Amino acid sequence: MILIIDFGSQYNQLIARSVRECRVYCRIDPPDVDLDYITSLKPEGIILSGGPSSIYENLSPKIDKGIFNLNIPILGICYGMQFMIDALGGTVKSATKREYGFAELLIKNNEDLFKNIDKKTKCWMSHGDSIEKLPKGFKITASTESTKVAATAHKRKKFYGLQFHPEVQHTPQGKRMLRNFLFDICKCKHSWTMKSFSENSINEIKETVKDKKVILGLSGGVDSSVTALLIHKAIGKNLICIFVDNGLLRKNEAKKLKKTLKEHLELNIRFVNAKSEFLKALVGVTDPEKKRKIIGRIFIKIFEAEAKKIKGADYLAQGTLYPDVIESISAFGGPTAVIKSHHNVGALPKKMKLKLVEPLKYLFKDEVRLLGKAIGLPEELIWRQPFPGPGLAIRIIGEITTKRLSVLREVDDILIDEIKKGGYYRKLWQSFAVLLPLKSVGVMGDRRTYENIAAIRAVTSKDAMTADWARLPHKLLGNISNRIINEVSGVNRVVYDISSKPPSTIEWE
Ligand code: XMP
Repeated sequence: MILIIDFGSQYNQLIARSVRECRVYCRIDPPDVDLDYITSLKPEGIILSGGPSSIYENLSPKIDKGIFNLNIPILGICYGMQFMIDALGGTVKSATKREYGFAELLIKNNEDLFKNIDKKTKCWMSHGDSIEKLPKGFKITASTESTKVAATAHKRKKFYGLQFHPEVQHTPQGKRMLRNFLFDICKCKHSWTMKSFSENSINEIKETVKDKKVILGLSGGVDSSVTALLIHKAIGKNLICIFVDNGLLRKNEAKKLKKTLKEHLELNIRFVNAKSEFLKALVGVTDPEKKRKIIGRIFIKIFEAEAKKIKGADYLAQGTLYPDVIESISAFGGPTAVIKSHHNVGALPKKMKLKLVEPLKYLFKDEVRLLGKAIGLPEELIWRQPFPGPGLAIRIIGEITTKRLSVLREVDDILIDEIKKGGYYRKLWQSFAVLLPLKSVGVMGDRRTYENIAAIRAVTSKDAMTADWARLPHKLLGNISNRIINEVSGVNRVVYDISSKPPSTIEWE
């Protein structure tokens, strides 16, 4: 495995992703980890990440300098390299001006990190400070016009430093440099597969949980379904899943999930019908944040009540993914503004005094899908687009009524059907319909209509942090619109949302 030390760079997840894509396991940890912990991980190599600090700042992040005596290859990137150079007796010059953007890298020798790399290649710079004097044993291995020490190496100790960012797309040969580090320098093997991960993980769950019970809030999304199936494989019926039907689900959703998860995969699931409780509490509510808060509160109440009925439950399983973990441990992950209160079960473990089982917490979303495949989750669940906890409530702008819910369900069903038929379902991050609190005039069979407007949203995205509206073919959009207006009574106009995120968000509320 490769240990990545997080000095606060916005690109850390990209480093981790690049390593994982090479089928090498890696973890990101904060700089305050101690040496015993590091050696216990037995890493084949360590990557010191970049970061926004200058090593001369008092509070700049630092890791125990003992890592340089562990006899483990180290790659320092940007701040990570400056930290290494400073720690080993070199000097770093503070910035007079920042260098930001593309630079041409001139490589001295095509060896080690630069094996099979063009002698002249582009790289992406983003730094203020630069190296003034190298410690003993280090040599300059590449330069750019304005940065003499763009790369450095201590060949014998296998310490390497890059002033630029090899992990970003703007460094076209950067991935190859990382591969050279992993396979030539650290001698890693391509051993990180989802099959090996699932076997280890199932054993670990067995050892931790023993004969105790685990409860899990099942939503039918890929994360909670994979978590459920993995734990089920470890402890069978001692995993008790709770599925809360909040009345805000899509057409036939609860029924379909019951069929696949309970009948086909034999998971132990308790279905709780709480439709009326949720819908009653939402009567007359139009404010998006109020909707979210009400739904979150009732969910927790119902889940807790159901969980209390299960005797001997010591653990709560959650489908937490790695990006959430990294965000919360990041050395600089300060509080961000609340844009939307997400409905999640984060508050549960504290309240319920349960221990957590989070088997996906070192995986990225696409790895979760691969894991799902490896453990036999049906394709339809693996490739389900994300669906928000508050469900259709935040896709009905204005008041939620049973009538409006059923109109939106029909619209959404047609949309998904057409998107699937057109071969777009997997290509899109999400595609869904929104019901607007507006009516417009139309004409149908020579008669005037005055009906609802439905908006269609289809976006591409890698991680939901940013998203772009999908350039769906006009023919497909035409089919969707025709079918909705013809088949759903109550809708006489369809519009397509062409906003990206930011500045819009994916969901409308
Ligand atoms: P936004 O609308 O913030 O959404 O751009 C980003 C992603 O998060 C999903 N989403 C939610 N997921 N609970 C969830 O589990 C929520 O309350 C929630 N709100 C938004 C949204 O569908 C998109 O994928």
